[in-house]
Amino acid sequence: MAYWDIQVYGTAAESCGDNLKNWSLPLRLQPHARRLLTACWLLAAVALLLLLLGVFRSDYASQRRAAALQRCSRAAVALAFTADRCQLLHSAPPQQRTVYVITPTYRRPEQLAELTRLAQTLMHVPALHWLVVEDAARTTPAVAELLARTGVRYDHLVAPMPEECNILPGSKPRGVPQRNRGLQWIRANASRGVLYFADDDNSYDIRLFEEVRSTERVAMWPVGLIGSYGISTPVVVDGRLAGFYDGWISERKFPVDMAGFAVSVEFLLQRPNAFMPYETGFEEDGFLKSLAPFEPNEIELKANNCSKVLVWHTQTKKNEPSAPLDIKKYNNTNLVLLKKQIV
Ligand code: UGA
Ligand code: MN
Repeated sequence: MAYWDIQVYGTAAESCGDNLKNWSLPLRLQPHARRLLTACWLLAAVALLLLLLGVFRSDYASQRRAAALQRCSRAAVALAFTADRCQLLHSAPPQQRTVYVITPTYRRPEQLAELTRLAQTLMHVPALHWLVVEDAARTTPAVAELLARTGVRYDHLVAPMPEECNILPGSKPRGVPQRNRGLQWIRANASRGVLYFADDDNSYDIRLFEEVRSTERVAMWPVGLIGSYGISTPVVVDGRLAGFYDGWISERKFPVDMAGFAVSVEFLLQRPNAFMPYETGFEEDGFLKSLAPFEPNEIELKANNCSKVLVWHTQTKKNEPSAPLDIKKYNNTNLVLLKKQIV
């Protein structure tokens, strides 16, 4: 006997006592009626389901897209992120100002590791255009492949360090030709947005890019892991700039790190001569000074009045290039493919 039958039987028995047989008999005698009733219930449920599907179907596609976009831009979305979703994110019509991220990079054992980390940070940021500029005469295929996989909007450019700079006494001005190439690209291709110089080896909190995006002219914030003070930042008193805190102030008017400021594209375009000088240690200061007329008291202070660290000047341990592969010994193995991916 089915559960439903027991229920009917029990209920009838309680309410009718001695008339149990009279009540239960007619109910049990009509199984076809119960089957009909069950069928009716099923039909009604299916009809209701179809109705609900009909109501929600029209909204479904747009809801899914909105949900995907929301997931993409939410800070906490992490590991399940796919390039597909990012393409959706980056192909969405930009309602917000684009953040142009200029990244100098060069071939070395750590390069693909650094670019993987940075790419997978940028995949979480909407309305972003990544300008990856190699210190090389030609683009590196492994870098091109990495960029194509990310789903982030990008341009892959080159700007080799001039020979003369490679023999400069002291260290050469790393990343400078590439940053100037990035500026040149922006002048030729953008009319609004914000530019940010993001070296390939730093660590970026994705919240930083929303601070960057809101830059009206020139904005600044703290950078962690710089020099002996462990930080480089504007000093803020009552919401106003009171100076700079940096282990090496020297003669710099703007003693800040490359990762510690952003400039609006509109502002840059009004200054056709702004560029980064080939002067080791003075790249940031020289570039910011080339934005004249512009004074320190005009700096927009971000990251909650410079009270939060959203970017870190991490420095990866340098690795020696890998030992050559014994091709006779490993010819038919996975090592041949792996060796092509490492320096
Ligand atoms: C610090 C600053 O953060 C840099 O912005 C500045 O360019 C550099 O000092 C400098 O003044 O020389 P640091 O961490 O010491 O940076 O330098 P790296 O990270 O080695 O290089 C900065 C950027 O330039 C990186 O994105 C790196 O990939 C690139 N780079 C470095 C090249 O493109 N070519 C090189 O030969 C070396
Ligand atoms: Mn670095």
